[in-house]
Amino acid sequence: MKTTLILALFFCSILIGIVSCKHTPFLVTDNPPIDTTDTTGNNPPPVGIPCDPDSVYFDSQILPLFVSNCAQTGCHNSTSHKDGYTLISYSTIMSHGISAFHPTSGNIMNSILDGEMPPGSASLMADEIALLQLWIQQGCKNNHCDGMCDTTNVTYSGTIAPMMNTFCKGCHNASNQGGGIRLDAYSYVSSLALSDSLYNSVSANGVPLMPKGGPALPNCKLDEIRIWVNAGAPNN
Ligand code: HEC
Repeated sequence: MKTTLILALFFCSILIGIVSCKHTPFLVTDNPPIDTTDTTGNNPPPVGIPCDPDSVYFDSQILPLFVSNCAQTGCHNSTSHKDGYTLISYSTIMSHGISAFHPTSGNIMNSILDGEMPPGSASLMADEIALLQLWIQQGCKNNHCDGMCDTTNVTYSGTIAPMMNTFCKGCHNASNQGGGIRLDAYSYVSSLALSDSLYNSVSANGVPLMPKGGPALPNCKLDEIRIWVNAGAPNN
C-alpha cells in the first residue's frame, strides 16, 4: 500500500514537471546567463554602501574619466605613461599633482583648465570638469558606493548612454575612433550591441577587455548591458 502511494506520488510529480515545463518561457541560449560572480579577477567591491547624492565617487565617476580621456594608447596608460604620467588608478593619479581641496591647482587640473589636456579637439566637457573639481573639493576620496546600479529599469537614455559617455566615449567618438569604433550615438551602440560585440568587449569574450587599460566594468553594469541587449537594444 505504502509503495503504491509512493509510486503514485512519484508519477504525479513527473506529470506536474512535464505540464509546468510547457509553461516555461523559451530562453535565449546563445547569450551567456547574467553573471553574478566576479570573473575579472578584481576584488569584488564592498557591498551595501549607499550612495550619497551629494558625494562624487572615485571608482564610478572619476577613474572612468581618466581612463577614457587620458589613458589612451600613446598617452597616459601603463605602457606609454607619457611625460611620466600614468592615469589609471587612484595612487598613480594622486601621485601626479592633484591637490586635494584645491580644484584649480596642481599639474593635472592646470593642464585641463588651460585646455592643454586632453590635446586636440577631445577636451573634457564642462560637466566633466565640474565633477572632477567637486571631487577635489571633497578631498579626493578613494571612495565607492553601491547604489548606482539599477537592473530593474534599464533604458538606452537612462542607463546605456550615460555608461558609454563615462566609460567609453573618450576613446570611441568622431575624432578618436579606437579600433574604428564609435560609441557616441544610439545607432553605433545598438549595432554593436545586436552583433554581441558590445557585450563581448566588456566581458573580454574573445576580444581585448574594454575599457582598454582600465578596470573591468562592475558586474552590475555588465548585467545592465545584457538586459538591454536581450530586450533588443531598444532606443528608449
Ligand atoms: C583608453 C581607450 C579606450 C577605452 C576607454 C575604451 N576603448 Fe574600446 N577600443 C579601444 C581601442 C584602441 C580599440 C581597438 C582594439 C585594441 O587596440 O585593443 C578598441 C576596440 C573596441 C571594440 C572592438 C573590439 C573588437 O576587436 O571587436 C569594442 C566593441 C570596444 N572597443 C568597445 C568599448 C566599450 C564598450 C568601452 C567602454 C566600456 C570601450 N571600448 C572603452 C580603446 C578604448
